[in-house]
Order: sequence, then C-alpha cells, then structure tokens
Amino acid sequence: MTNSLLSNSAYRHRCKMFTIRKILEKDLKEVYEMLQDLAAYDKILDKFKLTEEEMRHYIFKDQFPWSCLVAENLYDNSLKGFLFYTFSSINRAFHLSAQVYVDHFYIKPDCRRLGLGKRFLEELKKTLKEHKVNRMEVWCMKTNKIGNEFYKKNGFHMINANIYQHILSER
Ligand SMILES: CC(C)(COP(=O)(O)OP(=O)(O)OC[C@H]1O[C@@H](n2cnc3c(N)ncnc32)[C@H](O)[C@@H]1OP(=O)(O)O)[C@@H](O)C(=O)NCCC(=O)NCCS
Repeated sequence: MTNSLLSNSAYRHRCKMFTIRKILEKDLKEVYEMLQDLAAYDKILDKFKLTEEEMRHYIFKDQFPWSCLVAENLYDNSLKGFLFYTFSSINRAFHLSAQVYVDHFYIKPDCRRLGLGKRFLEELKKTLKEHKVNRMEVWCMKTNKIGNEFYKKNGFHMINANIYQHILSER
C-alpha cells in the first residue's frame, strides 16, 4: 500500500515502528551503503571519496567529530535512514550560540513521508538544547525539489549567500 493510502492510525503506527538513536559501530556498513544511495540519488556518486574505514575514523576517533543519528526499524532492526551533523563555531559575531551543521540526510524510499524526517529533526533539536545551541544550517542541492520542500516545511529558510569553496589538496 502506498503511503498516501494509509489511514491516519496506520500512518501513526508505522511511524512508531522506528527509533532514532546515535550510530553504533555495528551500523557502519549499513550507513555506508545508504550514504552511497544518497550520492546516487543526488547524481554525484562519481565524486564519492569516502571509504568505510575513513567513515569509522571520522565518527568514532577524529579530533573533529562527525556525528550521526540513525533510524532503526524496531521489528527487524534494519536501518532505514541517517542524518550526519557537526558542531561549528562559524559566524559567532552575529549569533547567540555555535551552530549545528546538518550534513547528509537520507531516508530509504519505502519509509519516506511517514514523518521520519521530521522525527530526525526533533531528535537533533534535543541535542542542540543539551549543548545550548540555538541554530542549524543545512546544504541542499538546488535540483533537490523534495529536499528543499522538506526543509522549508520544517522551519528552515533559505539564506541569500553564495557558497565558495577552495580545496587545498586532492587524493
Ligand atoms: C527529504 C527527506 C529526508 C524527507 O524525509 P521524510 O521522512 O519523507 O519527511 P517527512 O515524512 O517527515 O515529511 C515532512 C514534510 O516535508 C514535506 N515533504 C516530504 N516529502 C515530500 C515530497 N515528496 N513532496 C513534497 N513535500 C514533501 C512535506 O511537507 C512533509 O509533511 P506532510 O507529509 O505532512 O505533508 C527524504 O525525502 C529523503 O531522504 N530524500 C532523499 C534525500 C534527500 O533529499 N535528503 C535531504 C537533502 S540532503
């Protein structure tokens, strides 16, 4: 049955099948595969550089921690989505706190439109509150219509700024 045909109570029930929690070492393989699915979805798989080992290091050992939440299906323990984020001190002169930068964010196609994306943001907001951080920023490709709609619906507004990048070395 498609999501649009689910009754309200069935919709709420499906939503409750998931828990959103911090990533564990045992999740790495599944998250790595979903990260590649996201790159394919964004049509940038040819630019994908990360190895699974590097991902392990960045999340669990790096001096600049890369944090990740995952959605776990409570019936079969499979993972259905992830959200990466980092804390950053950028632009402190104009804001009351540091910020959280939402990095890669992905829900598997069969679990979209169940409110899971919204639940990820709610969980993330708890972390912001714990750390007294009052702002989030996210990068979303212009071509990603659904992603842009999702963020607008969830309280984000577009900043009128050009993003420039200077990469100092390549592998
Ligand atoms: C964007 C994404 C994370 C949203 O996750 P989700 O679990 O489907 O989102 P939710 O069910 O919480 O939707 C919340 C709201 O966002 C908007 N939205 C979500 N999907 C939408 C769609 N396909 N079309 C239009 N609006 C949409 C709706 O307003 C929705 O509220 P509603 O269902 O009450 O109308 C998911 O679609 C996804 O993984 N997409 C592919 C990767 C991606 O674009 N990532 C984000 C940018 S990096």
